Amino acid sequence: MTLLCAGLGVKQRPVSHKPLTILGIETSCDETAAAVVRGRIPGPGEILSNIVFSQTEAHAPYGGVVPEIASRAHLEILDGIIERALVEANLTIAEVDGIAATAGPGLIGGVMVGLTTAKALALGAGKPLIAVNHLMGHALTARLTHGAAFPYLLLLVSGGHCQLLGVGGTDDFRLYGSTIDDAVGEAFDKTAKILGLPYPGGPAVEQAAKHGNPRAYDLPRPLLNRRGDARADFSFSGLKTALRQLAQGNIPVADASASFQAAVIDILCDRSLIAMNRFRRDFPGAGTLVVAGGVAANQAIGAALARLCKEEGFVTRIPPPRLCTDNAAMIAWAGLERLTDNATGDALSVSPRARWPLATGPI
Ligand code: KG4
Ligand code: ZN
Repeated sequence: MTLLCAGLGVKQRPVSHKPLTILGIETSCDETAAAVVRGRIPGPGEILSNIVFSQTEAHAPYGGVVPEIASRAHLEILDGIIERALVEANLTIAEVDGIAATAGPGLIGGVMVGLTTAKALALGAGKPLIAVNHLMGHALTARLTHGAAFPYLLLLVSGGHCQLLGVGGTDDFRLYGSTIDDAVGEAFDKTAKILGLPYPGGPAVEQAAKHGNPRAYDLPRPLLNRRGDARADFSFSGLKTALRQLAQGNIPVADASASFQAAVIDILCDRSLIAMNRFRRDFPGAGTLVVAGGVAANQAIGAALARLCKEEGFVTRIPPPRLCTDNAAMIAWAGLERLTDNATGDALSVSPRARWPLATGPI
């Protein structure tokens, strides 16, 4: 049954009356995570457990994630993390309705560990397997936390991605723009490295920026103020290069961090404004901006986007920081949404994918 929802241009899905309980598994980068979530669409859902083991310490000496170290660490601890998630939720595997795992995109070794474990559990317990796109996990988190209704404009900002999308449903992602070079989280991480701040860079730069002057250095804001039918694309490599040149001198870390963050905020707000215009045309009458991904944990960025939304008549939905960064509750929720649409789940033959764009086609 698919009806077109009056005015908003989104497909209406069958209402699910019975809440589903889903075990989620996330291993696509350097967090080994398992969670149990219960609920029904459109949310909000209930997080019965949410265990995240961050491998930060193992990767910190290298200033970034080392794929081989990550996949070994996932393999060593995932079983215990899943057990803890079930114990904390006070459930056995027999009591869940499905098992969801990230099947990509991400570091392929880690994805293989999580997906293969989920397949084994699904087969052993006779439960449906749901192979979840990690980006869909981030994209739907605001439904888990706030019950955000489709459609919404999504700013997806993480270590690997920087995109603006119109989201009409779980199978309707319209790409309005993406980065032409670095992802915004990557820019935070590289900036931290240049300034001698610890890994992961985002939280360290945000912290340092609190004590600095955002106008101390005039850093580049590429592609700013393009209007009309411009794509909402991002570019961060020039910003990083300018900062590297600056850092050859002896500059105050707080001022450099604050100036970098101010440039990022200007870029994100400018591009969100362009995308809002595209979104209004695609979905007349709708006006919600969801911010997702690790960088959405940044309070200064969140506050600036909230101000923009107020000016533009949009409401802002940003999940709490622990659900912005990688976690398995978002994977369980995305699994719950997909199982609502397809009660049998995915075939056990489904393959892990290093690359898996949410939206394809022309923008
Ligand atoms: O979503 P996520 O946990 O993993 C990916 O899917 O990439 O995002 C991680 C990224 C890292 O680049 C990290 O530096 C950044 O999110 N991040 C932040 C903050 N917390 C995490 N960036 C800016 N400010 C933060 N508070
Ligand atoms: Zn992520």
